[in-house]
Amino acid sequence: MCGIIGILGAEAVAPRILGGLKRLEYRGYDSAGIATLNGGAIETRRAVGKLAALDESLNAAPLAGLAGIGHTRWATHGAATEANAHPHVAGPVAVVHNGIIENFAPLRDELRAGGAVFASDTDTEVIAQLCAQFLAHGKTPQEAVAATLARLRGAFALAFLFAGHDDVMIGARRGSPLAVGHGVGEMYLGSDALALAPMTGRITYLEEGDMAVLSRAGVTVYDAEGRLANREMRVVNVDQVRVDKGNYRHFMAKEIHEQPSVLGYALAHYQTAGRDAVQVPEGAPDFAKVDRLVMVACGTAYYACHVAKYWFESIARIPVEIDVASEFRYREPPISARDGAIFVSQSGETADTLAALRYVQGKAGQVLALVNVAESTIARESGLALPIKAGVEISVASSKAFTCQLAVFANLAILAGRQRGHVTAEQETSLLAALATAPRLVAEALGQEPEMAAAARDLSRARDVLFLGRGAMYPLALEGALKLKELSYIHAEGYASGELKHGPIALIDEHVPVICFAPFDAVFEKTISNMHEVMARGGRVLLVTDAKGAAEVGEGAWKTIILPEAHPLVAPILYAVPAQLLAYHTAQEKGTDVDQPRNLAKSVTVE
Ligand code: F6R
Repeated sequence: MCGIIGILGAEAVAPRILGGLKRLEYRGYDSAGIATLNGGAIETRRAVGKLAALDESLNAAPLAGLAGIGHTRWATHGAATEANAHPHVAGPVAVVHNGIIENFAPLRDELRAGGAVFASDTDTEVIAQLCAQFLAHGKTPQEAVAATLARLRGAFALAFLFAGHDDVMIGARRGSPLAVGHGVGEMYLGSDALALAPMTGRITYLEEGDMAVLSRAGVTVYDAEGRLANREMRVVNVDQVRVDKGNYRHFMAKEIHEQPSVLGYALAHYQTAGRDAVQVPEGAPDFAKVDRLVMVACGTAYYACHVAKYWFESIARIPVEIDVASEFRYREPPISARDGAIFVSQSGETADTLAALRYVQGKAGQVLALVNVAESTIARESGLALPIKAGVEISVASSKAFTCQLAVFANLAILAGRQRGHVTAEQETSLLAALATAPRLVAEALGQEPEMAAAARDLSRARDVLFLGRGAMYPLALEGALKLKELSYIHAEGYASGELKHGPIALIDEHVPVICFAPFDAVFEKTISNMHEVMARGGRVLLVTDAKGAAEVGEGAWKTIILPEAHPLVAPILYAVPAQLLAYHTAQEKGTDVDQPRNLAKSVTVE
């Protein structure tokens, strides 16, 4: 997770940019760099490794200038080299970037065909080159950035600096966070308020799709449609910025909205620089030597295993057994040296998952864990701890950890498929290209929040709610029901769609909303038949589908929420958004404590 900072200052900016980068170093430290405007020209210093290296290079050759941008990098596209370090400069433009540009390869080919020469392997450089091209065609910096943004696909936050324009800095966000800081005769940009804390506590958080044009006198913000946007300036208590909710009412809302950004990192972490193959994590099992996988976790993390079971079985043809940790540990299941065991835990402290891990140690041939908290007990005790890259999750109900667990599992399933000879190099590249759409599609699904909030107003009046799904949507139905129960205290159950007529259909009447997760996939028609069985009995169906699914079903459903069309590997990640937001808004309607629901704890360290 890269960190960005920018200062339009009244005095030398490089030392303060370095200070801001130190506060952002937690976001990555593969390399760092600063660009300033010195006498109207762009000058840069970049160094590989931790900030100390950049500090040294600045000591050896200080950077003057009253305007500058800085970056601390967590490498995605391109190795951690000086050439790949940000800022990237093309002609009169310098840019720093946090996120991933999905369509960088076709853009780079197009720019190369037009004569552009690239100095790095990064996706970021296409942004600088594109912007420089628009400037060369006579556009102003603001017009050039707007035209550049219109060509980019992906999730990102950006800061631009322009040679010859000492009083202009432009920021933009789509999917990744970016804040504007207000000083006295100075203005700032930063990945978070923490980076800006020593300079100002007066912060404007940019919203999805915003572009901010800064001068020393202030900022003008434009929304995704290019209209002037009025974004509130808030005073953030400097002591509290570490756990700041940003523009959100709750940590849960913030964490749900962070998903496009963190998913990009979770995906990239397990892929090669060109994003065309899965990078084998050091010490990872050779899945070709495994006869069976056993996956163990609790709650939401268990549902991530449930989705993963479908993926490993279909993509890699490995039999997978899943179990909740509290059952697994006492059942004393037989485990052999040909088994691989995977434990999943956001906190890395869940007592049952830890006990299950200890049970398989010495029995399973391969043991690994997917964890979010790197220093946790499960991370330390497992042979191999794979990070899920979700960043700190504060809300008790898990959201971004779930989708990041899925992102890591998707990569591992493809890797296993390759190792076991079921996935060719060509298929791997095409599966990864499909996965790369996840951050953008999740950002688009988040754009459907008003529809989900409207549906939640009706759900909040229900006493019982059923969730249905088939295939990999079945665990999503379970996750949707869990989220609704824990956040709104409404009774909810998730069922495999086909199981409904074996009992639960007796519950159906006009008072029980039935939420059906049904992308237009191979099992769509079957799920829709089950939906009709519900409607024939007076049940009210909230259908969550895509445009093709909605067209197929027509008018019958009580409500329909339309998500973007997604590859089957991306769909479970995408449908997590309505599972989360329907519960979140229902809880808001009911006035429950969203971030700390009653009776729960973030780390369940007792059995
Ligand atoms: C539900 C939720 C819990 C956790 C479960 C496991 O929203 O957060 O069900 O998923 O307690 O916790 P970890 O992943 O920390 O082991």
